[in-house]
Amino acid sequence: MKLIIINGPNLNMLGVREPEVYGKQTLNEINDKIAAEAQRKGVSIDFYQSDSEGEIIKKIHSCQGVYDGIILNAGALSHYSYALRDAIPIAGIPVVEVHISNVYKRESFRQKSVISAVCQGVICGFGIKGYLMALYYFTEEKYEG
Ligand code: DQA
Repeated sequence: MKLIIINGPNLNMLGVREPEVYGKQTLNEINDKIAAEAQRKGVSIDFYQSDSEGEIIKKIHSCQGVYDGIILNAGALSHYSYALRDAIPIAGIPVVEVHISNVYKRESFRQKSVISAVCQGVICGFGIKGYLMALYYFTEEKYEG
């Protein structure tokens, strides 16, 4: 299995950016932890971050046939980018939307995501653990009920 974690605008500033909301760890520190867990699970994982909507869209297009799934924290783009929303079905692979903070406890503009409807599911409010939860969605046996 091959996965990619895509982080959007301002997430390269984790560790510095509002640590009371997003924690003190840098994106590199977070990615190192996820990489270690992915290795333990025998999963190949790549990481990508961009502040640019267009670059993120191009990256999502290029994921088809390369990855089995995308873990996407699109940052503020999640709340308004219809272009990003349209890119997700083009990739044709499952996307799990992640937010570090609980967006429902925050400003009203954060309480709407235009990408959720084209994602497999949404994980929000569990801090950086959310990325690992998304990883487990892909790696663990599916619960059939
Ligand atoms: C975020 C929440 C967004 O509202 C915000 O714009 C971000 C980060 C989160 O991970 O909690 O950049 O996606």
